[in-house]
Amino acid sequence: MTAEETLVLVKPDGVARGLTGVILARIEAKGYVVTDLRLVQPDRDRLAAHYAEHEGKPFYEPLLEFMMSGPSVAIRLAGDRVIEGFRSLAGTTDPTTAAPGTIRGDLGRDWGLAVQQNLVHGSDSVESATRELEIWFS
Ligand code: RTP
Ligand code: MG
Repeated sequence: MTAEETLVLVKPDGVARGLTGVILARIEAKGYVVTDLRLVQPDRDRLAAHYAEHEGKPFYEPLLEFMMSGPSVAIRLAGDRVIEGFRSLAGTTDPTTAAPGTIRGDLGRDWGLAVQQNLVHGSDSVESATRELEIWFS
């Protein structure tokens, strides 16, 4: 049986702030295995596919602009229950209230912008992970 996989992104704010290594170290220290990794400058089409579920929401356009503002590091991550485990490591969406000890809680903050810049993305289900890994690693 193959281990579960997820897509993790170190978003443009994380790359720009030089936190890729710190974030990878937390992921590896937890015990998950990086099986592929690449620096990606996504175009609008790739992001529209990735964030299709959010189309029409107030933060959708700012989100796409933010995600096009610089490269992200796309990470294929493997391990039993890695989807749930990475979401737990990342913390909740709003970095102001994300729990201390999480990536967003320890390293993120509100910058007063139209969309939350919260350093990382993690797939939220097996179906999302399969779909998103295809989008970022094809
Ligand atoms: P992600 O998909 O990036 O792992 O984050 P998530 O599940 O915690 O959050 P989600 O609801 O899927 O939202 C996707 C990303 O949109 C930005 N966002 N900003 N009110 C806001 O300002 C707001 N709401 C969402 C965040 O960057 C969030 O991660
Ligand atoms: Mg999400």
